[in-house]
Amino acid sequence: VGAEIGDNAHFLIKEINEQPRTIARALSGRIDERFSTAHLGGLNMTVREAREIKRVTILGCGTACYAGELGAQLIEDLARVPATAEPASEFRYRNPVVDPNTLYVAVSQSGETIDTLAAVQELQRKGGRVIGIVNVVGSTIARQVDGGIYLHAGPEMSVAATKSFTSTVTAFALLALHLGRIRDLAPEQGRRIIAGLQMLPEQVTEILAQSDAIADIAKEIAQSNSVMFVGRRRGWPVAREGAQKLKEVSYVHAEAYPSAELKHGPLALISPEMPTVAVVPDDDLLDKNTSTLSEIKARKGPVVAMAHRELSTDIADRTLVVPRNEPELDPILMSIPLQLLAYHAAVVLGRDVDKPRNLAKSVTVE
Ligand code: AGP
Repeated sequence: VGAEIGDNAHFLIKEINEQPRTIARALSGRIDERFSTAHLGGLNMTVREAREIKRVTILGCGTACYAGELGAQLIEDLARVPATAEPASEFRYRNPVVDPNTLYVAVSQSGETIDTLAAVQELQRKGGRVIGIVNVVGSTIARQVDGGIYLHAGPEMSVAATKSFTSTVTAFALLALHLGRIRDLAPEQGRRIIAGLQMLPEQVTEILAQSDAIADIAKEIAQSNSVMFVGRRRGWPVAREGAQKLKEVSYVHAEAYPSAELKHGPLALISPEMPTVAVVPDDDLLDKNTSTLSEIKARKGPVVAMAHRELSTDIADRTLVVPRNEPELDPILMSIPLQLLAYHAAVVLGRDVDKPRNLAKSVTVE
């Protein structure tokens, strides 16, 4: 997980392929099987302080914010604390009410993003407690926060964030487990999540082996002017991140919608010329998701689905079968084919994969 490109054509594919190891590194030394919890020594938070948290507010920009949206759902699901994520760039300008019983979490791969840093400083000025989920050790945000979790994902050289996204969501799963086990989460639920986390590296390897099949789909996607990404609940941040990745590295326009919102407007865009990429886990919302896909197919929109089993061709032209984990952790796996889709589309279109036009790796000036 170093900074050398080695035999790889691009840093982006190198970093996508590193994810079995980077996820394992995020977990390393942090799982406590005896008490079915996570040890997060860097949080600097007593059990009493953790029990007093009434709300969690997560701040970050771009991909870091989408990882934060999944983090908020993990914290609500496992720790039963109300949690939301918001772009740091919006939060800092809206004179937020800073509450002493809210835990603020700043997410940043680089630890240098100016809007995230400014949000942290504003929070601290008003007495807020802020922890960080950061990759770069000793970075400005890492030094500014009151504690946190390092990703240990190694240098991320490609402008597009990939391994930092999956490591951040993994770190949030550990944080949610830690807070949950101090609060209401039963030991067997803790064990269920730990077993799921431990399966992730091997399952990521299985997904990476589908790279060629994904490259075939990417050839078709690359010919489109615009692509719709849809997902529901945990699939919604995955869809947002998938759309962002495609735009960023291939310059193909994409937008993401929560599946149920399609019929409130964007269904008008669906046509044979606009493919949809759908996140369709085999969970309690499967029927709802497949009915959305039927609506898209009725408008002759091509559909590519990320799912846990092959879907009928009436509702999805292509299915990418992703291994099943625990529902709370499935989004980590579902995001990986979307990274590969964006990568292969960028390669087909001859883009500057690691340094897309108009973008910088970290946005340190306003
Ligand atoms: C991700 O692919 C983007 N390059 C971008 O959205 C990035 O995640 C964002 O600028 C935040 O960066 P950070 O994690 O270093 O703070």
